[in-house]
Amino acid sequence: MAGGHRLLLENAQQVVMVCARGERFLARDALHSLAVLEGASLVVGTDGFIKAIGRADAIQTLFSEETFEERIDCSGKCILPGLVDAHTHPVWAGERVHEFAMKLAGATYMEIHQAGGGINFTVEHTRQASEEELFCSFQQRLQCMMRAGTTLVECKSGYGLNLETELKMLRVIERARRQGPIGISATYCGAHSVPKGKTATEAADEIINNHLPKLKELGSRGEIHVDNIDVFCEKGVFDLNSTRRILQSGKDLGLQINFHGDELHPMKAAELGAELGAQAISHLEEVSDEGIAAMATARSSAVLLPTTAYMLRLKQPRARKMLDEGVIVALGSDFNPNAYCLSMPMVMHLACVNMRMSMPEALAAATINAAYALGKSHTHGSLEVGKQGDLIIINSSRWEHLIYQFGGHHELIEYVIAKGKVI
Ligand code: NIG
Ligand code: FE
Repeated sequence: MAGGHRLLLENAQQVVMVCARGERFLARDALHSLAVLEGASLVVGTDGFIKAIGRADAIQTLFSEETFEERIDCSGKCILPGLVDAHTHPVWAGERVHEFAMKLAGATYMEIHQAGGGINFTVEHTRQASEEELFCSFQQRLQCMMRAGTTLVECKSGYGLNLETELKMLRVIERARRQGPIGISATYCGAHSVPKGKTATEAADEIINNHLPKLKELGSRGEIHVDNIDVFCEKGVFDLNSTRRILQSGKDLGLQINFHGDELHPMKAAELGAELGAQAISHLEEVSDEGIAAMATARSSAVLLPTTAYMLRLKQPRARKMLDEGVIVALGSDFNPNAYCLSMPMVMHLACVNMRMSMPEALAAATINAAYALGKSHTHGSLEVGKQGDLIIINSSRWEHLIYQFGGHHELIEYVIAKGKVI
């Protein structure tokens, strides 16, 4: 079968497929041994999708007559799926490095928030920023994420709170989504904080009656595509009842539920999310045993954010308990002005050291399970024939170096490839 293909990756020491049987997520025993091929090659077609993976000699025989736009000798190197970051807040203006100093001196996240800092501070600056300014800084952040191996990322709005600025943020996200090459799952997070002068109930009414209908209109005109709806369900922010109303309204519009829950206080957010059929619930430092059981049954994934627990010195989310109970555990960087981390290898490293996950568990959580959290694990998150050709090549003969190593990832990650194109 002669013909042209986009990319041939030849003779890698290891190709970490993650899963090989079309699984949409990995939980329980499936996490113990990821699918890894030794001495293997991989082909991506001109459509950007994976055409073949297999032993290097078999691929060589099968494709000997064919031409490739690009070939890369992967001897002594490992190929892994592009990393998926299941939770970020990457569009904002205003520097909050001074708050890091306050936290180091002992201030808590909520003390800073209630004194007008935190999200409120970023909202003020983001409202004032031009769309172009927001787009430029967002682009730079996406570049850093890609250099650290991320090829699909969830991006939230939520530093506008009013309709005008939320839409400005969503337009910025939409522009980057259309431009690529990084894949983006867009999240409307207008309920990230209660705007000054409003109660949570009034803010929820505004979202349900004004923001969501506008998103529907813009979506039907093909102007802005939104995938997920988010709420910061927290004591002093959105209570359980307002959270329920907002998430249900979003779900009625066809959005996937993907929200912040049980972070600083136990809120029974996990129980609510499971009841509403949430695709993902993030944070979960304070989740109850019942919440964990409900998430496992409902197959609502847990997006754990080791950077935040680390930065704020919170109690660690109970990753081991969740894994043992069969919850689909995913990872995200939570990149935001509070947790300034654009690197999923660093996130996996923290997950292993601080949350006691194994390296296969962390890799699955940052690939197939993170893709599941975004409703995209049928096309992303593993190296299987028919999936999108998003992958990374690391300059090491053992894939675990991606997690073992902390820092220096830019030298370790030699190529980042999206839809079969080196970026
Ligand atoms: O996930 N918890 C709420 N939202 C963010 C923090 C946002 C901010 O502080 O600007 C989080 O950690
Ligand atoms: Fe967050």
